[in-house]
Amino acid sequence: MTSAVVALGQTTAAAASLESGNVLFQQPGFFRVGPAEQELCSPSVLSSGKNVSFDPATGQVGGSALSGDLAAALRGMLRRFSDEAQAFVARTCPEYAAHLVRGRTSFRPVEIAGRASSWRKDDTRLHIDAFPATPVQGRRILRVFANVNPQGRPRAWRIGDSFDEVGRRFAPALKMPLPGAGVVLSALRITKTPRSAYDALMLQLHDRMKEDSSYQQTAPQTACEFPAGSAWMVFTDAVSHAAMSGQYQLEQTFLLPVKAMGAPDKSPLRILERLMGRPLI
Ligand code: SIN
Ligand code: FE
Repeated sequence: MTSAVVALGQTTAAAASLESGNVLFQQPGFFRVGPAEQELCSPSVLSSGKNVSFDPATGQVGGSALSGDLAAALRGMLRRFSDEAQAFVARTCPEYAAHLVRGRTSFRPVEIAGRASSWRKDDTRLHIDAFPATPVQGRRILRVFANVNPQGRPRAWRIGDSFDEVGRRFAPALKMPLPGAGVVLSALRITKTPRSAYDALMLQLHDRMKEDSSYQQTAPQTACEFPAGSAWMVFTDAVSHAAMSGQYQLEQTFLLPVKAMGAPDKSPLRILERLMGRPLI
């Protein structure tokens, strides 16, 4: 079964819908770029890479080439978006509110279509999200996206197989990491904390999906367009997705403990543990 894009307002059970693998869609109007912020919609805000990042805990902005008033405007927009995304999740899924851990915020000012990248970093290929440097230890990755394109252009995604299907298909190709490997990675500062077996397997899954061209073409998938001004939220660790085109997007990452879910059995952690036949945390 592939995921569906469900309009908020059409569902009274938002968390259950998210946990089943749906994308919850919010009509345009959720977040607006203010008049003083219009100048920020340019790829020239970047110093390098494809995103500006923001740490809501410290107020630190990374990857920006701006200074002075424009740098302050960028920080202000990222902070405002981050706060609004938090409020958005809390009012849409009140049962998650007390358990959400707010992660990084990002601003993505580069057109996706035609962007050169290695297959591993190519987000136009279907994948689930997994973090190489910041292990999640089984926690869910819940992301809020807002398309802030000032020219009114949509952000186009493909949405693919459920995590059950992805897991079943790729589990035979997954290799348990060597005991102690996760601790070595953190000692070498490749990861911020030790990488759990779960994190290692999720990274493998991400890679196996992206490198498999036949899977990319034959997996069940639906194209969808998120109009300029709209927002959506989705568990990107479980919903197979690919971003095909679009420019100027804000994104907020949240981590959610599996025990805060209404249906923990639907978490990638529990699904992978069943498939691998052992605990992964
Ligand atoms: C991704 O998480 O794969 C990219 C989503 C996007 O930038 O639209
Ligand atoms: Fe992704």
